[in-house]
Amino acid sequence: MGTTNPSPTARVVEARKAHHLALALSSGSQSALDPGWDDVHLVPASLPELSLDEIDLSTTLLGHRLAAPVVLAPMTGGYPDASRVNAVLGEAAEHLGLAVGVGSQRAALLATELVPTYTAVRARAATAPVFANIGACQLVDQPGSPALGRDEILRVIEMVRADVLTVHLNVVQELLQPEGDRRTDSLARAIAAVVDWSPVPVLVKETGAGMTRESAGLLAAAGVAALDVGGAGGTSFARIEGARAARAGDDRRAELGRVFADWGLPTAASVFEVRGTGLPVVATGGVRTGLDAAKALAIGAVVVGVGRVAIRAAVRGTEELVARLEQLLDELRLAMLLTGSRTPADLRRSPPVLTGFTSEWVRQRALC
Ligand SMILES: Cc1cc2nc3c(=O)[nH]c(=O)nc-3n(C[C@H](O)[C@H](O)[C@H](O)COP(=O)(O)O)c2cc1C
Repeated sequence: MGTTNPSPTARVVEARKAHHLALALSSGSQSALDPGWDDVHLVPASLPELSLDEIDLSTTLLGHRLAAPVVLAPMTGGYPDASRVNAVLGEAAEHLGLAVGVGSQRAALLATELVPTYTAVRARAATAPVFANIGACQLVDQPGSPALGRDEILRVIEMVRADVLTVHLNVVQELLQPEGDRRTDSLARAIAAVVDWSPVPVLVKETGAGMTRESAGLLAAAGVAALDVGGAGGTSFARIEGARAARAGDDRRAELGRVFADWGLPTAASVFEVRGTGLPVVATGGVRTGLDAAKALAIGAVVVGVGRVAIRAAVRGTEELVARLEQLLDELRLAMLLTGSRTPADLRRSPPVLTGFTSEWVRQRALC
C-alpha cells in the first residue's frame, strides 16, 4: 500500500539516513582503533613463479560468481539523493562484476515513494549480486513499532530482486540513537524465523562492533548462510550518532557517543573469531587498500566489504568510483603476486604471521 505522506517515523528515518551519509564522509566518523591489518604479516615470495596476468581474482559467494572478492557494503537509500548514489554503486558493481548492498530498507517499508531510492541499484546492476538489507532490531516488537513480519521481509527482497538478504546487527547504534529500537533480546530467534521465510540466503552482518565466536555460533545455529564480521577500525556508528546528538544539543547522548566511540572488536580479530563456524566470512570494517583486502583473505575471509572507500568516491560519480575500486583491485593483485598466490584461496596457503593486539587476542581466546 502506497502512502503519499510519509508517516512521522518515515520522516525520522529519511532524515537520519541523509544525515548518516553526510557525517560518514567526515574524518570524525572513523574509529581510532586499528582494524588489525598492521598486525597481519603476509609471507613474501621472492620467486612468485607466476606473472601478473595469471592472477585470477574471481570468487564465489553463496553461489554467486564475483569477478573479484569485493562487495560494496550496504549503505544508503531512503532519502531523495540516495537514488543518485545508489545508481552509481549499482553501475560500478555491474561494470566490475562485484556484489553490492543497499542500505536498510526500513524507510521504503514506511513510505513506498522511497522505494526508487533503493531500486536504483538493481536498475543499474542487472546481473551483479544485490544484497537486500534490514536491521535485526526491527525484527522484534519495539515500543510503538511492531516487529517486521514475513510479508515485509519478502517485500524487501522483491523490491531489489535481491540475491541475498543481509540482516544487520547495530546494537550500539540503536542504544545511542534518541529514537533507537532498544529491545535487543531474542534477536537470534527472530533471525531464525527470517531464515525460514527467506527464499534467498541470509547473511548476518555487524556494522562496526565486530563479531565473536559466541555470537557466530548462535547465528550458525539460527541457520544463517554467511557472516560479515563488520569489525571495528573503520566507520564507527557510535561516533556518527555521538556527532548527531551533539548537533541536536543532546549532551547526555553525545557523551555516550564519546565513551563508546571505539567500542568493538577490530576486523582482523573478528575474522579469527568466526572462521571456525565454517560459514563463508565477509570482512568489512576498515578495509582501505588492496593490501588490507589480501590480509583479510589470507586469514580466512572469502570476500571483503568496502564502505567508506566506496561511498567517498560514489558521491563524485561512477567514473571516480570505478577508478577507486580498480586501484584497490590492482593493489590486491600486487599483494597476490608478491605472495605467489594465483587465486584468492592461494593466499591462505602460507598463514600470515601475527603480531600485536591481534596475536594476543587470538592467543588468549585460543583461536588458533
Ligand atoms: C553512510 C553509511 C550508511 C550505512 N548504512 C548501513 C545500513 O543501512 N545497513 C548496514 O548493514 N550497514 C550500513 N553501513 C555500514 C557499512 O555497511 C559498513 O559496515 C561500514 O561502513 C564499515 O565499513 P568501512 O569501515 O569500510 O566504512 C553504513 C555505512 C555508512 C558509511
